[in-house]
Order: sequence, then C-alpha cells, then structure tokens
Amino acid sequence: MKVAPSILSADFGHLAADIEMLNESEAAMIHCDVMDGVFVPNISFGFPILEKVGRLARKPLDVHLMIVDPQRYVSQTRDCGATFMNIHQEACTHLERTVQEIKAAGMKAAVTLNPATPVCMLEDIISELDMVLLMSVNPGFGGQKFIENTYAKIARLRDMIAVSGSSAMIEVDGGVTTGNIGKIAASGVDIVVAGSAVFGADDPRLAISALTNV
Ligand code: DX5
Ligand code: ZN
Repeated sequence: MKVAPSILSADFGHLAADIEMLNESEAAMIHCDVMDGVFVPNISFGFPILEKVGRLARKPLDVHLMIVDPQRYVSQTRDCGATFMNIHQEACTHLERTVQEIKAAGMKAAVTLNPATPVCMLEDIISELDMVLLMSVNPGFGGQKFIENTYAKIARLRDMIAVSGSSAMIEVDGGVTTGNIGKIAASGVDIVVAGSAVFGADDPRLAISALTNV
C-alpha cells in the first residue's frame, strides 16, 4: 500500500526535520493539507509554507486544497512543486475547465469528494482524472474516526473506473490506522493518507513502514 503522510500532524516548529524524516522513509508522497477557514472550519498553512516544503521534499507533493475557488491557485500550486493538485468537487464550479488547467500546468489532476458527496458526481469527468480522493472523515482536522460508509464508496468508485477505462488512482484520507489499513488495502485503494497514525507514533518512520507493508 502506498502511504502519503500528512504534514498537518507534523511539528511545524521543526518542519524541516520532519520533511527529512519523510524523505528517508518509505512514504510514497507527502500530503499537504491547505485549509482556508471558509471551505473547512480550520486554517492550516498556505503557499509560503508549501513553497518551503516543496524545496525540502525529495518525494512527490500531493497538495490537498481545502479551499474555495481552487481554480485561482493553479499556477501558485505548480510553482511550489506540486505533483498532484487535489481540489474538492464541492469547491469548484467549473471542474472540467480547472482539471484541464491543472494538467496544462504540468501537474496531475486529482479531485476530492467529501463523505456526503456521491461518487457519481465524477461520472462525466472520471476519464480525465489521475486520482480521486475519497474523504473518509469530514475535512478540517486530523485525528478523526474513519467513516465506515467509505468502503461502499470505494467499491462504487472502482466500478466507475473499470467501466470508464480511466487510469485514475483511488486515495483515501482520514482516520487511517494500523487497525483498519488491512481492510482498506483489501478494498482496492491505491494510496492512503495518514496524519496522526504517522506523527502520533513513537517512531513515525517505522509507522510509515508498517502501513506500507500491510
Ligand atoms: C483532514 C485532512 C487529512 C488529515 C488526516 O481534513 O485532509 O489529510 O491530515 O489526518 P488523520 O490521518 O489523523 O485522520
Ligand atoms: Zn488531506
């Protein structure tokens, strides 16, 4: 299982050290949670921090924008070194146009769905996507409990991807632990985000390995 540790749960006072730990770990990508206090009830960090992370990281950046109107920030996200620009379907009115702009900017396009948004909302755009992120908690905070209905959504998304012939990867974000990683892996997910399960562990690097080698 590919693991994208979320730096939302990292020590922002020693972020460079945590990025270096991730560089040396088995992490597949580094997940960066940008929150604006409008789309979600929390504010995390913005582009000045993301730019620094981009300079320190030797792993691909998976930038999860929990912000309204993410289409306004395509070039800034690219300039920070993002590999995946991950935007919410609920936050973007002209999603098809924005997905094309993300790809034209040289990034991979990912679209995220909140727990209450059905996967069918992506039916007409799935063939254009490089990744779909299913939120398994309501976005805004780390350390929440995994919503069980996510398994049914994963199955529906897998069917949609198979029917369309899309090569989109499936990512799951929120409440991933060593207790549920086996079931998540068995459900056909390609990559998981893990925040507190990594940075709340005694040895974060070991925790990444444990989740990866499930
Ligand atoms: C939640 C964020 C997540 C968060 C996950 O809004 O999108 O990426 O960091 O944290 P855990 O793994 O602790 O649920
Ligand atoms: Zn996230």
